[in-house]
Amino acid sequence: MAETVTQPGAGADGPLPKGFRGAEQGWPELHRIPHPPRRLPLLGDVLGVDRRTPVQDSMRLAGQLGPVFRRKAFGNEFVFVWGAALAADMADESRFAKHVGLGVANLRPVAGDGLFTAYNHEPNWQLAHDVLAPGFSREAMEGYHAMMVSVAGRLTDHWDREEAAGRWVDVPGDMTKLTLETIARTGFGHDFGSFERDRPHPFVTAMIGTLTYAQRLNSVPSPLAPLLLRQASRRNAADIGFLNRTVDELVAERRRTGRGEGDLLDRMLETAHPETGERLSAENVRRQVITFLVAGHETTSGALSFALHYLALHPGVAARAAAEVDRVWGDTPAPGYDQVAKLRYLRRVLDESLRLWPTAPAFAREARRDTVLAGDHPMRRGGWALVLTPMLHRDPEVWGPDADRFDPDRFEAKAARGRAPHTFKPFGTGARACIGRQFALHEATLVLGLLLRRYDLTADPGYRLTVTERLTLMPEKLRLRLERRRPAPAPVRVADMSGSADGGCPVHGTGD
Ligand code: HEM
Repeated sequence: MAETVTQPGAGADGPLPKGFRGAEQGWPELHRIPHPPRRLPLLGDVLGVDRRTPVQDSMRLAGQLGPVFRRKAFGNEFVFVWGAALAADMADESRFAKHVGLGVANLRPVAGDGLFTAYNHEPNWQLAHDVLAPGFSREAMEGYHAMMVSVAGRLTDHWDREEAAGRWVDVPGDMTKLTLETIARTGFGHDFGSFERDRPHPFVTAMIGTLTYAQRLNSVPSPLAPLLLRQASRRNAADIGFLNRTVDELVAERRRTGRGEGDLLDRMLETAHPETGERLSAENVRRQVITFLVAGHETTSGALSFALHYLALHPGVAARAAAEVDRVWGDTPAPGYDQVAKLRYLRRVLDESLRLWPTAPAFAREARRDTVLAGDHPMRRGGWALVLTPMLHRDPEVWGPDADRFDPDRFEAKAARGRAPHTFKPFGTGARACIGRQFALHEATLVLGLLLRRYDLTADPGYRLTVTERLTLMPEKLRLRLERRRPAPAPVRVADMSGSADGGCPVHGTGD
């Protein structure tokens, strides 16, 4: 990684000035950073832009403008970074921190100072982080495993019926049901009954409403938002009201019925900070529950959907992954916790899907003090940029000229070890990286394993990947045809599998 260079007179760390929004204030040499041609006065870079796909538009522009570029929309200018050297420099926690801006800041009305949307200086971030982090320890994860298997069973019951009827399965819809039920059951002891419903649970509809609204806020000039989005804003307020009521009922039910065997909600309600003895306030618990229900399922659902898309498109990869599942799990009806981490090839498939389509496709970083990014771009304290992960994950200098090609062997242990750090960042970086990473990886690997063991997947020959954006990414209208596989071959003893492993725990070791 480039040696860090700081300007003389760098400011101290701490809360940043309020209202520090536009790139003009944070990038003294902004003029050196390219922007799209045909910039319009007042409006900015709006020609040829589709407001429904800001991430994919930015990916296209990235290819034209290079590793750092800027876009302007209605007076607000944003800097995007995706070159590996620049992104690695931004991962330096001594000089950069999470920036709560754009889409994330737009979620503050619903998630407030919950973990995901908290400003770095808000005391509730550290409090909640310290209280909730043990909820993602190995021990806690082992406790969730049986519930994850049981929710996956509801998915396969449903898919068995669809298969028997010869119907296509709705992949994003069913993955969303699965991941919502998983986080609701493991985290909060709650059952939304998603698989028993024809339409999405109203919680999901309200959640998608708030995510879409948060994204739309970026596509109109902020002073005009109340006018242009009046109706949408009313609907958003109703959605937030619904989310709050759902969560309040869930919390009230827990208070009535008692403990939930040490799940996340128990931790939120009962655990005091180990050092200060402080507890989360009722208001903060509400925000954390919403945060976890939303962050805990939308992104994992997308990750599973993209992985299934690629598995169906690449029968050779699917066959290799299914053979691994048969070999490692044998005939055991329900794999144990440790048997999931042993699916090393399948984990590579998941990583490769998250490389091409990281479902949380950007994260923002701000300078803690005056500094120079990658030795070339001066930044003032508070200046910030978006790391555009799908392009970082396709930087040809790291991933080669065929970076757009799906190839799980890029994550073979030796290849992963040979790559520079901070080049694969689907879960963000530093202190504010994803707290649910192990949860998501365990759940997704388990579910993919269960599905590959049970079905052969057939892609719809007419399907062309279309990616929907609502802060997260999802393959739109992806459907697959299933065929029940022959019974799995006889189990192979663990000792026989040692030659097939590529070293390093697939759940704990991605190389950065
Ligand atoms: C494939 C699935 C997932 C992906 C790709 C993902 C991605 C991310 C990313 C990129 C961030 C950092 C955002 C930023 O810097 O602004 C983040 C933060 C977070 N994620 Fe995830 N996530 C996933 C699953 C989960 C799950 C399953 C949970 C909960 C069970 C979760 C809870 C959170 C929370 C609470 C934060 C905020 C952490 C903090 O700032 O302290 N995520 N996630």
